[in-house]
Amino acid sequence: MIEFRSVRKTYPDGTNAVDDFSLVIPSRTTTVFVGSSGCGKTTLLRMINRMVDPSSGTVEIDGEDVAGVDPVQLRRRIGYVMQNAGLLPHRKVADNIATVPLLTGVSKGEARARALELMDTVGLDRAFAERYPSQLSGGQQQRVGVARGLAVDPNILLMDEPFGAVDPLVRNDLQDELIRLQRELGKTVVFVTHDIDEAFKLGDQVVILKKGGEIAQLGTPAEILSEPADDFVANFIGAGRGRRALRVEQTPTGPVVVDGDGRAAGVLTGPVQVVDAAAAVPQAAEAGARDTAPGAPAQGGGPR
Ligand SMILES: Nc1ncnc2c1ncn2[C@@H]1O[C@H](COP(=O)(O)OP(=O)(O)OP(=O)(O)O)[C@@H](O)[C@H]1O
Ligand SMILES: [Mg+2]
Repeated sequence: MIEFRSVRKTYPDGTNAVDDFSLVIPSRTTTVFVGSSGCGKTTLLRMINRMVDPSSGTVEIDGEDVAGVDPVQLRRRIGYVMQNAGLLPHRKVADNIATVPLLTGVSKGEARARALELMDTVGLDRAFAERYPSQLSGGQQQRVGVARGLAVDPNILLMDEPFGAVDPLVRNDLQDELIRLQRELGKTVVFVTHDIDEAFKLGDQVVILKKGGEIAQLGTPAEILSEPADDFVANFIGAGRGRRALRVEQTPTGPVVVDGDGRAAGVLTGPVQVVDAAAAVPQAAEAGARDTAPGAPAQGGGPR
């Protein structure tokens, strides 16, 4: 479990990036921070692995204040995937993946073997091991970035807009892969994005942020979709497509919540006869927003 307790961050130039932020992130789940540019997402993420230290307040991992942990030790337990993969251009793919294990004293042979295994894990052909990042597609580079984040077998994986730079189809594949990996590996994933659809697809818990890291709403995708806390959230989740009109569609296997575009937004876990979103709120509370497509089997969004 990761816990932020009344965390503030004022940068040396006086910018108040985060103002009194508190949050509990349960283990082995995916929590997504979503919000507009400059609202403090990266600052919050980096406070977990001490790339940024809070001005006041604490960040605890399993009850231990990270301020008392050596940053190098800390980063062995925490994988970090940067925006645009953040690969070293002059190093081959396998060496990029093995960067952190090599820094922590693992032998070259072991590090390489681990890199090749991780290429399998993230769905990259081992033949790419000898290529340089510029010889890969954008999506392949992002997979290398994820493999590198996993290289120290961390319990916690921090991902800062990791799929921002690829086209929507590749992005969709990468998101599906992350959901699969999360199921298989059971990491605690903290994921940053400014894309609300990505947040709803990946998050067990979604944190919608306003400027200064103020939490506009915290909840499961279904909770937020069915009951936006205020106009800010309603506008944010409707951005770019008009306000989402939720409705419930009956499928052969159960009711599925779909938005105005017919995209699955969640499933209902309780018995239900309703057809409008307002009435669906209580049942939607336990629902997750993944793995459902209109007509597909409805599944609960329980722990994985
Ligand atoms: N090193 C720094 N020095 C001064 N101000 C900073 C520094 N890093 C970030 N900031 C400021 O703190 C605020 C939050 O920045 P942060 O990078 O956390 O935002 P973000 O939500 O990740 O934005 P984006 O979506 O654009 O990546 C912004 O106003 C930013 O300009
Ligand atoms: Mg950022």
